[in-house]
Amino acid sequence: MRTFKRILVTGGAGFIGSAFINFLFKNGPIERVVNLDLLTFVANLKNLAGVEKDPRYRFVHGDILNSALVTELIETEQIEAIVHFAAESHVDRSIEDPLPFYRTNVEGTIALLEVVREFPHIHFHHVSTDEVFGSIEEGVFTEDSPYRPNSPYAASKAASDHFVRAYAMTYDLLVTISHSSNNYGPSQYREKFIPRMIYGLLRQEPLPVYGDGVNVRDWIHVDDHVEAIWKILRLGKIGEAYNVGGKNELRNIDLLHQLIECFAKVEGQSTQKYLPLITYVKDRPGHDLRYALSSGKIERELGWRPAHQFDQGLENTIQWYRHVWK
Ligand SMILES: NC(=O)c1ccc[n+]([C@@H]2O[C@H](COP(=O)([O-])OP(=O)(O)OC[C@H]3O[C@@H](n4cnc5c(N)ncnc54)[C@H](O)[C@@H]3O)[C@@H](O)[C@H]2O)c1
Repeated sequence: MRTFKRILVTGGAGFIGSAFINFLFKNGPIERVVNLDLLTFVANLKNLAGVEKDPRYRFVHGDILNSALVTELIETEQIEAIVHFAAESHVDRSIEDPLPFYRTNVEGTIALLEVVREFPHIHFHHVSTDEVFGSIEEGVFTEDSPYRPNSPYAASKAASDHFVRAYAMTYDLLVTISHSSNNYGPSQYREKFIPRMIYGLLRQEPLPVYGDGVNVRDWIHVDDHVEAIWKILRLGKIGEAYNVGGKNELRNIDLLHQLIECFAKVEGQSTQKYLPLITYVKDRPGHDLRYALSSGKIERELGWRPAHQFDQGLENTIQWYRHVWK
């Protein structure tokens, strides 16, 4: 097993990166965690309130494209591993304006890899997504499934995955990659499906559902995802990719019904109060019908399994946003 005590996290003020940093301070033998984040509109340093005063934690406001800064951080902080979360991450925004996705997700990842070439002892873990595989009507994606990205976001993540692999092969870098399904949990920016619906429910506003709501996504609790990343970092085979799924496939419309039921229960109200808020809207262009992952490889090889029950995780998530937004 590899041990890493000095870790550079990119995008650690975002939803999953902050959960990873909080996880490290609870579970890892940590000496130093440096969080490099540009603080785009989605970032929220409050997610890190529990660790910000820890002397082992350092926040650096900066861009992954700033290679001089990344080099300086690696040298001065004696970094042993980089866990790369920083990205533009919202599909709808990538459809409106793809270029920032190219810049951050592709160029930003290459910029980091160029720096890592100078420090080949560093383990580079790249956080990717199931969306690179495109849509699958039946069956599940494995790590060997072909890449068929359908949105500019997915294409930018696919391109960055290819560069990670190519740099590893060409320059002998120590890399691992993870493809996770849709994450849910506290502290996610408001524009993503679950927080957006909870926000609408709290304000009694329309709850927009694309098309006829039959698109299927697999949902994983963010804490299960970050635990998987920690396992891959320490135990995963160098140069390999691992799928990280939640074993929890749901049609968007069914998820929304479950959210409404749970929200109504928590509020002590009837679901009838909220059901009329469901509003079908014009479908997203190129909307993938279904994502589904096999996590067999990480289960067999690394002994990871998602621990969170979706019903309970969803209720806790609703309670969290209710507390913060009410
Ligand atoms: N959210 C999901 O369901 C999901 C699922 C699978 C994979 N992923 C991947 O996980 C990673 C994290 O996702 P998330 O949901 O936490 O994203 P997020 O949008 O919540 O956070 C991204 C973070 O990156 C930072 N950032 C953006 N550009 C930067 C730059 N140039 N330099 C430094 N920091 C920058 C932002 O300020 C933000 O804090 C992404 O790579 C995403 O593709 C997300």
